[in-house]
Amino acid sequence: MNQEQFINQKIEEIKAIVGSEKAVSALSGGVDSSVCTVLAHRAIKDRLRVIFIDDGLMRENEPQEVSQIFSELGIKVEIIDAKDEFFAALRGKVDPEEKRKAFRDVFYKVFGRQVINSGARYLVQGTIAADVIETKGGVKTQHNILEQIGIDPEKGYGFKVVEPLITLFKHEVRRVAESLGLPERIFQRMPFPGPGLATRVIGEVTPQRVALIRQVTQIVEEETSSLNPFQAFAVLLNDKGTGIEKGMRKFGNIIIIRSVESKDAMTAEPSQVPWEILLRMAKRITVEIPQVVRVAYELTPKPPATIEYI
Ligand code: XMP
Repeated sequence: MNQEQFINQKIEEIKAIVGSEKAVSALSGGVDSSVCTVLAHRAIKDRLRVIFIDDGLMRENEPQEVSQIFSELGIKVEIIDAKDEFFAALRGKVDPEEKRKAFRDVFYKVFGRQVINSGARYLVQGTIAADVIETKGGVKTQHNILEQIGIDPEKGYGFKVVEPLITLFKHEVRRVAESLGLPERIFQRMPFPGPGLATRVIGEVTPQRVALIRQVTQIVEEETSSLNPFQAFAVLLNDKGTGIEKGMRKFGNIIIIRSVESKDAMTAEPSQVPWEILLRMAKRITVEIPQVVRVAYELTPKPPATIEYI
């Protein structure tokens, strides 16, 4: 099946499933949810409400940029501020799986509320094949896998989930995105996990620690953009390292930079980032963010490591 056939088939499927009901699309701005949103919009037009939940775990300016891109496509996006709710759920949690589950629970609570308030019966979301394989295989609890782990969204939350991309891998979704006429900023966008910067903060996820990793992330994305990696990001460790400031000893944060090359995120290799770029990133991070005293570059492929740290 070619791209066009896939697109037409999915539009027809969404029309058939949703019927004359309403649906809500959970847009994050990543390629998966963007493709889903455009497919659903083509299928049911104004009966689709597109929601972007601002969970406080996004990158710099992300909510505004995404809503701008979609408004240029003629699709209105509502930004729902749920930052406090997410941070409250994450407070005190340090275990990676506990953090993922806390995120998932708030995610569905907030969306559930929106779906019900809109009188909608369906939630359209961009789950892809790798999400299902890894959650089923016990690698980790992706935020968007419900039925696969035994949660029935209809009983628990009062709506049904529609997942048009469940058979595709990331590179295939990108091709569909391009055929749909989405801008390059979307179809070439690096994967960004649903739980956002919470996956890049080891230990407790607080607004302050997220603000720090957001600043570092921006530097890493700027400095690596010319290399076009599959994914490049930064992780804040949950320990301090010793540094020096004005001749005095000080303890500061430790950052790991991770950049990987991959086709479908199932396996990955560390990117061979030129030394000058690595040094420039380390310098910029420690100068622009003085709470950071150490920067390291991650060399582990997947497997044995996963791409994200939690
Ligand atoms: P891992 O860390 O398992 O990641 O090697 C594989 C790919 O999936 C992304 N990822 C997620 N995406 N929700 C998502 O939507 C999640 O909970 C999640 N966890 C990881 C990760 O960024 C990589 O591209």
